[in-house]
Amino acid sequence: MKVKIDPERCQGHGRCYDLAPGLFHDDEEGYGQVTGDGVVPPGEEHTARLAVSNCPERAIDIL
Ligand code: F3S
Repeated sequence: MKVKIDPERCQGHGRCYDLAPGLFHDDEEGYGQVTGDGVVPPGEEHTARLAVSNCPERAIDIL
């Protein structure tokens, strides 16, 4: 499982990095960034899905 943020859709709501700080972080303007290569470590799948379902812009995709 891998996560990806669409920078066109992200508006910087910050729920991704609040809910899943192991998978996402913010850039200097508060927009979400995938940490590392976006591969979701074992056991973090639920957290990844939580971030996806809480992004108001639906900017996060699971690959
Ligand atoms: Fe952006 Fe959604 Fe996160 S708008 S900062 S990807 S919660």
